[in-house]
Amino acid sequence: MSKRTIVAMPGDGIGKTVLNEAIRVFDAAGFEADYVEGDIGWEFWCKEGNPLPQRTIDLLEKHKIGLFGAITSKPKDEAFEELAPELKDKGLVYSSPIVGLRQHFGLDICLRPCRTYKGNPLNFIRRGPGGTIEEPEVDVAIFRQNTEGLYGGVEWSNPPDQVYDALLTHPKFAKNFGGTPKEEISVSTRIFTKKATERILRAAFEHAGKYGYKSVTVCEKPNVIRETSGMMYKMAQQIQKADFPEIELWNTNIDAQMMWLTKNPENYGVIVAGNMFGDIVSDGFAGLIGGLGFACSAQYNPDTGVGVFEPTHGSAPKYAGYKISIVNPIAMIESACMMLDFIDEQKIAKKIRKAVAEVIAEGNVRTYDMAKMPGREDVVEKGAASTQQMTDAIIEKL
Ligand code: NAI
Ligand code: MG
Repeated sequence: MSKRTIVAMPGDGIGKTVLNEAIRVFDAAGFEADYVEGDIGWEFWCKEGNPLPQRTIDLLEKHKIGLFGAITSKPKDEAFEELAPELKDKGLVYSSPIVGLRQHFGLDICLRPCRTYKGNPLNFIRRGPGGTIEEPEVDVAIFRQNTEGLYGGVEWSNPPDQVYDALLTHPKFAKNFGGTPKEEISVSTRIFTKKATERILRAAFEHAGKYGYKSVTVCEKPNVIRETSGMMYKMAQQIQKADFPEIELWNTNIDAQMMWLTKNPENYGVIVAGNMFGDIVSDGFAGLIGGLGFACSAQYNPDTGVGVFEPTHGSAPKYAGYKISIVNPIAMIESACMMLDFIDEQKIAKKIRKAVAEVIAEGNVRTYDMAKMPGREDVVEKGAASTQQMTDAIIEKL
């Protein structure tokens, strides 16, 4: 078989560090690939006025599979301030390159699995009967619609007349908002399309079927957000009945789900939600299995086969400058394993996950977050593993 070419997009800060570690693990695990570097992030905004240069889009167009580290985003004023002087009068506006990638390639399926590793000192524990301590084993796969909903960008402050007038055509809306001048109104919409909703629901059910999860939970708020959440749940009922009768369909409200997180997280299998609630519920579950050092994700378009795999964490600029890197590479390594699953290299992914599990279970090598130390530069001197040492330990197991 010909060698794969992977577009490696390190981005900014610790994104560069952890991506490199994932490639070291791939090499050690015998995954043969060529890596081409895709420019993305703050550096390219400052130098070129574009954090997602066309050449990076072209690379992904060609090779389809990308590993992504993390990027830095800054508020509007700072973004302008740091732009190269010759670009300052060009009217450029910063926008997140990762959102740009999602939109350009229609990466509408976002999968964020959260699985407990035995022996991880960051695992959630709770009280059981008779003063016992329970450590529930979490194994959920969260499917988040990645391109529309509340993050779809359809929003206005001081909305244009057409929007304001349309709002006031409805008597109830006119009653609630008609007394407020439009300069005092901000609107952020939540648009769900049937097509995208069906795609995320089917992806969730198919995943449940493929990996043996017994239930799919729609986590929205259909009792209040009746149209969009309501549509999603109704479509889930139809899809389940027609094509996945062996899988149970559950329905939770996002607010209650966040409360149940600490009560019975082990009961959930696949969870599916719109963009915003998917973001929230996946962070919630990630907190139970170790937080940002462990939270991985995949985003892909099943039709084109384009996929980008990235840890959930950002560029952690504070840590990026440390002489010895202290951040946990596992979130990136896990994301890279999701890439392997996606391109049908499950065997190598399994081998890497086993090595990670062994290192965590043994407990001899722990990055600062696992060792529960404050993230200072001297943690390695004090006994925490550096980023490289953690990777080395995983490689040794391989
Ligand atoms: P962050 O995720 O970069 O860092 C928050 C804190 O989480 C860090 O200070 C550190 O304590 C911890 N942390 C993060 N990654 C870790 C790891 N691998 N191991 C151990 N601990 C880890 O989020 P923050 O500070 O809110 O944002 C920093 C920059 O990253 C911002 O410019 C933000 O816009 C960007 N960002 C980018 C994302 C992306 O590329 N997808 C996602 C989130 C934030
Ligand atoms: Mg988030």
